[in-house]
Amino acid sequence: MGATLIRNGRIVTAVDDYTADIVVGADGRIETIGRNIPVTGDLEVHDAAGLLVLPGGVDVHTHLDWEFGPTRTVDTFETGTKAAAFGGTTTLIDFCNQPRGGSPLQGLEEWHERRATACVDVGAHLIMLDVNAQSLEDMKSLIRHEGVSTFKLFMAYPGVLMLDDGAIFKAMRVAGANGGMTCVHAENGQVISVLVEEALAQGLKGPRYHATTRPTILEGEATHRAIRLAELARAPLYLVHLSAGEALAAVTEARDRGVPIHAETCPHYLFLSEEDYERPGFESAKYVMTPPLRSHHHQHQLWRGLRTDDLQVVSTDHCPFCYGEEPYGMKSSKQQGIDDFSRIPNGAPGVETRLPLLFDGAVGQQGMSINRFVEITSTAPAKLFGLFPRKGTVAVGSDGDLVLFDPGEQWVIRAAEHHSRVDYSLFEGRRVTGRVKKVFLRGQCIVDGALWAGRPGMGQYLSRGASGHAR
Ligand code: URP
Ligand code: ZN
Ligand code: ZN
Repeated sequence: MGATLIRNGRIVTAVDDYTADIVVGADGRIETIGRNIPVTGDLEVHDAAGLLVLPGGVDVHTHLDWEFGPTRTVDTFETGTKAAAFGGTTTLIDFCNQPRGGSPLQGLEEWHERRATACVDVGAHLIMLDVNAQSLEDMKSLIRHEGVSTFKLFMAYPGVLMLDDGAIFKAMRVAGANGGMTCVHAENGQVISVLVEEALAQGLKGPRYHATTRPTILEGEATHRAIRLAELARAPLYLVHLSAGEALAAVTEARDRGVPIHAETCPHYLFLSEEDYERPGFESAKYVMTPPLRSHHHQHQLWRGLRTDDLQVVSTDHCPFCYGEEPYGMKSSKQQGIDDFSRIPNGAPGVETRLPLLFDGAVGQQGMSINRFVEITSTAPAKLFGLFPRKGTVAVGSDGDLVLFDPGEQWVIRAAEHHSRVDYSLFEGRRVTGRVKKVFLRGQCIVDGALWAGRPGMGQYLSRGASGHAR
């Protein structure tokens, strides 16, 4: 590949907004940024006049080709990363499981085999399922030698993924002492199990009871507990998929005291609500993700959190299961729970729509600056997860991961036009303003309108540095 010149674009980073040309060298890194860079024969030239030039999106929460109890997500690394690219995301950090009774290092090795077909750059978080003396040692090796500096710990899903508080505390302490950070799914799994059992015993079996059995108070309680454990462990903490006002209040309180607590929310919590569980028949199973969708009151709190930086990141929690059984089978289908909401695979797709949805909703409707939009979708996740300045900005020396974005184009979200294998969109029929036009991965144009010029295997593994530092 030769060098690439992107001319006349409006470059927006988390801090700057100016018009200039960018040259990405043959090594895939940004070589020059300046005005009126001469066009020479060895440059592939792209005109960005009238377009925003943004750093490639960084989505730090995806589940590709992921085993989740008796289910498996339907996107492979090839399809999930291609969908990400069409949505303007050039970096993913994906979750990989420690095998039960096995080593996290073995889990990473298996994940590397699956991610070999990735079309954009990918890093890994390790989900700890067995915390013992050996796996705590392995965490140190993962940070020092494997470029994995974040670990997911579940306070929910008893019997499948949940850890007890002692195990959580031990893992936090090792992560914190070694430049790592834990990412916690904060819900009180044991109390949720009681509520689920009681609902089923009363014959309440439809998808809507997924939401009523996971009340916000149990997210607030677990978030508070996770924060206090992290404080005791003297470790940075990242709360994943935060959805509830009570949880945000706990984060805000801790941050106000100067404790290194960070949190993300997801587009579905910002744009959808519990009203989606009133859809007829089984259709609301499409909206069964964990935590569930909440009321508008909580939504307003989340927007407040983004404004005040109590929430620093918006990621997708892309965890795709088809609605129908065909063509990928029952293991990857919501139909597993047709007679029992507790068997509906938890998770929803979203990797392709994050940037346009947020541009439309946050910048267009909530008055967020474009700089802040870049910060929450690219820069802050790159910094927190040990990828900055290689990722997350437009600067000389950074990877030439660039998105040419038309801030004025209106279009309608349709699952039929997506590149994921999943057969529905949470946002079907939604009209948005702002569209990804071209995407460059390390200087190579991989998306050009509807054309795909990427290829499986071109995504590199991202060996990450220390995590947990926002600045
Ligand atoms: O429903 C969800 N969020 N599924 C993915 C697993 C998780 O909790 O992140
Ligand atoms: Zn989770
Ligand atoms: Zn998740």
